[in-house]
Amino acid sequence: MSRSERKWDHIRFALENKQNSATVFDDIKFLHQSLPNTNVFDVQLDHSIGGLYLSSPIFINAMTGGGGEKTFQINKELAIAAKNTGLAMAVGSQMSALKDKAERYTYGIVRKENPNGIIIANIGSEATTENAKAAIDMIEANALQIHLNVIQELTMPEGDRDFSGALNRIESIVNVVDVPVIVKEVGFGMTRETAETLSSVGVTAVDVGGSGGTNFAEIENKRREKTFSFFNNWGISTPVSIIEAASITNQVTIIGSGGFTTGYDIARGLALGANAIGIAGYFLRILVEKGIAALQEEIETLHKELTMIMTALGAKTISDLQNAPLVISGDTYHWLHQRGID
Ligand code: FNR
Repeated sequence: MSRSERKWDHIRFALENKQNSATVFDDIKFLHQSLPNTNVFDVQLDHSIGGLYLSSPIFINAMTGGGGEKTFQINKELAIAAKNTGLAMAVGSQMSALKDKAERYTYGIVRKENPNGIIIANIGSEATTENAKAAIDMIEANALQIHLNVIQELTMPEGDRDFSGALNRIESIVNVVDVPVIVKEVGFGMTRETAETLSSVGVTAVDVGGSGGTNFAEIENKRREKTFSFFNNWGISTPVSIIEAASITNQVTIIGSGGFTTGYDIARGLALGANAIGIAGYFLRILVEKGIAALQEEIETLHKELTMIMTALGAKTISDLQNAPLVISGDTYHWLHQRGID
C-alpha cells in the first residue's frame, strides 16, 4: 500500500470511528450559579497560551497532509475554515514531506490560505533537530507539535518498534527551535508523571490527547485481520488526563483533546485545567460529510454554546472558567482517588 493510500485509509476509518465523549465527560458537573452577575455580551473567548494569542480557546488539531490531492483539498478547506472563524490549526505529520519534497504543497497551502493565522507544525518523536527546524520553516509555523503515538505504531505490523531516546530528542529540539513546543498524545492520554517529565525538559505545552474520541488502535485494527484488539480499550480518558496534567506543580500549558464535540465538553475540559481544546475527528467528519460552510457554522455554534455556559457560570474570561467550581463523580472520581490526585 502506498503512503498516500495509507493516509486516505486513516481518514476513511477515522470518519467511521465513533466517538463516545458523552460518557467520558459525564462524571464532570458544574455547580449551578443562580446569581452569576454576568452579561452575555461581556463574555470573552480570547486567551493567551504559551506565548500565543488565540482569539478562541478551540483549535483544529493535527490531521493530514502529504497524501496527494485529497489531503491537499482537506488541508486547504480546514485552513479556510480556520481563517474565517479565527481558529489556530495544526497540520498533520510532516515527517514524510521532510523526505519527499513533492508532498510539501499539501502543507504549504495551509499557510497560503491563512497568511496571518496561528499555524502549528507537526513531527514525530523520531525527528532530529534539523527535521524540526525544516518542518517549522515549511509552513512558517508559530508553534511545533511533537506527537507520541506508541500504541498506534505497535498496532501496525509495519509500525515502529523502537521508542528509545524520544525524551532526549524532544529536549534537543526544545533547545534549538525558537517557537513554543507542544508534545501531544494522539488519543491514549497522559499521566501527571509524563506531563512533569516533559515540562522538566522545557516543553511549553502538553496536549494530553486522551481516550474517548478518535481511537487509533481501533482504526489500525480495522485495517487488518490479525489484530492487537486489547489496545482498543487502552488509555487514559481525556478528563482524567487533563486533571492528571493539571495536578503537577511545574508551569506547563495544558491542552485538552480527545473526543471533544460540544461546547459543554469544551467548557468542562477548560474548567478541569486545560488552557485550550484541540478537535480533530469531529471537525474532519463535518468537513468531509457536509462541507466547509457547515464546519464554519459548527465552530460558531461551539463558540455560542461556550459563551452561554460561561454566562451561566459567571465566567467572563477563559481564566474565570478555569476556576469554575465543579463536582467529579463515578469512574473519574475513583481513578483520581486511587492516584492520590483528589
Ligand atoms: C490524526 N491525529 C494526528 N495527530 C498528529 O499529531 N499527527 C498526525 O499526523 C495525525 N493524523 C491524524 C489523522 C486523522 C485522520 C485524525 C482523525 C487524527 C490525531 C489528532 O490530532 C488527535 O490527537 C486525535 O484524533 C484525538 O482527537 P479527536 O479526533 O478525538 O478530536
